[in-house]
Amino acid sequence: MISAIVCAAGKGTRAGFRENKVLRELDGMPVLCRSLSAFAQAEIDEILVACAEEDEARILPLLPERARCVRGGDTRAQSVYNALLKAQGEIVLVHDGARPFLTPKIIADCIASVRQYGSGVCALPVTDTVVLAENGSVQSTLPREQVYAVQTPQGFYRDRLLGAYEKAFAEHREFTDESGVYARYVAPPRIFTGERSNRKLTYAEDFAPAERVGFGTDTHAFYAEGEGAPLINFITLGGVRIPSEKILKAHSDGDVLVHALMDALLSAAGLRDIGYYFPDTDEKYRGADSMELLAETTDKLKSAGYAVKNISVSVLAETPRLSPYIQAMRENLARALSIPRDAIGIAAGTNEKLGYVGEKKGITVYATVLLTK
Ligand code: CTP
Ligand code: MG
Repeated sequence: MISAIVCAAGKGTRAGFRENKVLRELDGMPVLCRSLSAFAQAEIDEILVACAEEDEARILPLLPERARCVRGGDTRAQSVYNALLKAQGEIVLVHDGARPFLTPKIIADCIASVRQYGSGVCALPVTDTVVLAENGSVQSTLPREQVYAVQTPQGFYRDRLLGAYEKAFAEHREFTDESGVYARYVAPPRIFTGERSNRKLTYAEDFAPAERVGFGTDTHAFYAEGEGAPLINFITLGGVRIPSEKILKAHSDGDVLVHALMDALLSAAGLRDIGYYFPDTDEKYRGADSMELLAETTDKLKSAGYAVKNISVSVLAETPRLSPYIQAMRENLARALSIPRDAIGIAAGTNEKLGYVGEKKGITVYATVLLTK
């Protein structure tokens, strides 16, 4: 029988959230859920989750089958020890709940190492140079071939690890993980190779927000000669009125740039497209100010939990000349999206007289955006 012990009884002080970092959502799912689901899908007979009393009510609903809570202690070592006392497996795999990216392969390698060598410590050779320092000065450089960064899981026969912890407590010695205790009181534990992605989330920046890219495009035709264009002498792009002999056909104000951008935003957030939310069959949107529609779009994104990181727009227009108006467009969009102007790139170009753009029959805009959750 194999038990997994998942440590979740810390406070996450260094991450600085108002909650235990293992309960923090990452891509829409608490960190701890990811760690647990890897064990739930592996050949593990029971999962013991060390949790603090104040977190138990939130952790209980997250537990997969075969998992239960045990009371954590003041230190990680205490939490592991408490769980070891309750574990029934002959083999135990101890894992940090704050390492959500472990893979089935790591778990399988850990178990295999315990079976073959009596222990299995997930670790990676370091890539940085590692030095010993004192008072801010390097004393010596460690031989890099011999230096490993130790991760979890770490697997052992339960009674040996339990015995080691008992000796450590009796001697009031502190260890940051099982490999240290085991090395001190039992034997040098065997290393198996971990994965770079199996990193521990410690500081707030380790919880990099989820990012989503979006793409949108829109084309509007110019009125041809004798097609009865309205009596105006401008087109609107990015909320800026630009003098133009040719007028764009549109149900709304014809801001083809903003329309492409809106589609990019909606698509990045996994929402429906502009035609769905603002149908041009709806009288309400006749002559509509596209900047207002953009504001409504950003509200939708906000409700879905997204913020705009940057946008990049490319306008294909043979006429009119756009370069004098680009800065004003950027200002407008920056205000509408509440992002800095330098998060907005707008390029404009002709199509070298080729195709419908080149023949001055219309304008096409491409937009890409990056959102963060
Ligand atoms: N842990 C635990 N019991 C403790 C302390 C830590 O079960 N008394 C767990 C944490 O929940 C975490 C893992 O051990 O999943 C690794 O510890 P660490 O990264 O230090 O987490 P925290 O102690 O929560 O963070 P901090 O040290 O920044 O407060
Ligand atoms: Mg800690």
